Amino acid sequence: MDWGMKNRMSRIFKPETGRTVMLAIDHGYFLGPTGGLEEPAKTVEPLLPHADSLMLTRGVLRRCIPSSFSIPIVLRSSGGTSILTELSNEGLTVDMEDALRVNASAVTLSIFVGEEGERTTLLNLAKLVDAGEKYGVPVLAVTAVGKNMTRDARYLGLACRICAELGAHMVKTYYCEGFEEVVRNTPVPIVIAGGKKIEERAALELAYNAVNDGACGVDMGRNVFQSDCPEGMIRAIRAVVQDGASVDDAFGIYRDAKG
Ligand code: 5RP
Repeated sequence: MDWGMKNRMSRIFKPETGRTVMLAIDHGYFLGPTGGLEEPAKTVEPLLPHADSLMLTRGVLRRCIPSSFSIPIVLRSSGGTSILTELSNEGLTVDMEDALRVNASAVTLSIFVGEEGERTTLLNLAKLVDAGEKYGVPVLAVTAVGKNMTRDARYLGLACRICAELGAHMVKTYYCEGFEEVVRNTPVPIVIAGGKKIEERAALELAYNAVNDGACGVDMGRNVFQSDCPEGMIRAIRAVVQDGASVDDAFGIYRDAKG
């Protein structure tokens, strides 16, 4: 890894811990309007002091996020499908030059192992890695799980390993039973998605179990911005990921913030 690539990685994963709290707000790229993201700047402004990086599309970045915000950007660079069509047929949507123009610290795309778009999305990953290596921009591969697949260690381990083999610099996947085995077989840092909104304590347990089983952090969205206290929730998640807090202590942070 050259200097630029290493520098960008260290903007995302805090060098003191090797971990990250990534806030995902890119849901609209295939879901359209998403609860909690009607006015993205209003949603994220109070959350950013507690996040290490922000994952979003270039449209929302350019139109909604003030350029004075200094948070490292993980730029969603795949799409082209919606919940109304075959989701897995994604293409690349951002040129690496434009990612550099918006000062992205990393780019990200989804891959769909076992789905109709498997070959296309894996080749997208290879292309994005080529461009990333050329300019020193790391690639975060998201192991999207289509409706025909099960989120178990066998499937997620397969998808994560393929991402790493194709050159992804980091992988985002789901937490599952046997997650340590997924981590052991994936020679790049893994962050976990939160998934659909669940009860706050359960979301904190998810983050706690993931980092204890070897994840290098979280890339969570709905369990933060759809919480009844988003700021309390991201502070609690940060305590788990970056400060090694227990679930009880983290839940206390959320509860106190909620008042
Ligand atoms: C979709 C994504 C989303 O950013 C991610 O899944 C959002 O996080 P969460 O599931 O925690 O809302 O990558 O492919």
